[in-house]
Amino acid sequence: MNEQLTKLTGEALEKIAKAQDLDALNGVRVEYLGKKGLITAVMKGMKDVAPEDRPAFGQVVNEARQQVEEALEKAKQALSEKAEEERLKAEVIDVTLPAKKANIGHGHPCQIALDEVERIFIGMGYEVVEGPEIEWQEYNFTKLNIPEGHPARDEQDTFYINDEILLRSQTSPVQARVMEQGKLPIRMIAPGRVFRSDSIDATHSPSFYQIEGLVVDRHITMTDLKGTLDEFAKELFGPDTKTRFRPHHFPFTEPSAEVDVSCFKCGGKGCRFCKDEGWIEILGCGMVHPHVLDMCGIDSNEYTGFAFGVGLERIALLKYEIDDMRLLYENDQRFLNQF
Ligand code: DAH
Repeated sequence: MNEQLTKLTGEALEKIAKAQDLDALNGVRVEYLGKKGLITAVMKGMKDVAPEDRPAFGQVVNEARQQVEEALEKAKQALSEKAEEERLKAEVIDVTLPAKKANIGHGHPCQIALDEVERIFIGMGYEVVEGPEIEWQEYNFTKLNIPEGHPARDEQDTFYINDEILLRSQTSPVQARVMEQGKLPIRMIAPGRVFRSDSIDATHSPSFYQIEGLVVDRHITMTDLKGTLDEFAKELFGPDTKTRFRPHHFPFTEPSAEVDVSCFKCGGKGCRFCKDEGWIEILGCGMVHPHVLDMCGIDSNEYTGFAFGVGLERIALLKYEIDDMRLLYENDQRFLNQF
């Protein structure tokens, strides 16, 4: 019996020494010490041993068992340590490797220009508000003094969803929406996308951006309008910029004007950039028509206001000297990364 046990123990110890991983080790445990294990079987043979020999027999088997158990435990520890070491080795980060290049995006020239315009007006105490791109014709036209049949509806032909709802052709409806809220005084700009049924060329697109401006308070005069827009032009295009107000017509303002800035390329002498005019048109504006104030629930006897509308693309094209509007919509990184 002793001999058999020594042999089994020897075998077990040898297998433990050879085990390459924890799974193999567990296999050895099951083979020798498991319920149906070889050493366990010897232990079960106790009942066939003469009673007087049992204590000695028990001791021998227990010793063998203990020996194997200890060897298993040691091997387990060694294998776990080895596994841990290998894991750490595999996870080592080589800090000397070159970093992956982070390909971060780039501000769009229109966004950069809009940020600049917002910064200027926020600095003058204006609020930035937004209105819907899908709009009632009532707000896009009627409340702005452009009743059905008015020729201005044709000039701003847009995409109709039905007779009453359209893609707004201008940001001016935001004026009506803000005035209707009735919180006075008003000092706001409203940037956003507008739509027209125009074909695409170097200066036109069926979808573009405008920035609307509106001020309503007691005692607002044309002087406030001129001073504000002159300051805006100087901040945007440089302190030497001059402005020129030309009479114009918009249905929702009276009087109305278009504003030119002195060419910031040639200083007004005339060059290719300003087509030899010395001036460049940048926006439309005027004093809010009393009829519009009344239609939007503001007493035109007590309040006056001014409004303006700027094309954002036009500002970006001028400011960054881009000669074709289509470049703004192509999302070509080689173009965008220049600004
Ligand atoms: N909404 C006008 C357009 O799209 C631009 C405009 C002109 C807006 C004069 C105004 C304004 O607020 O006072 O052509």
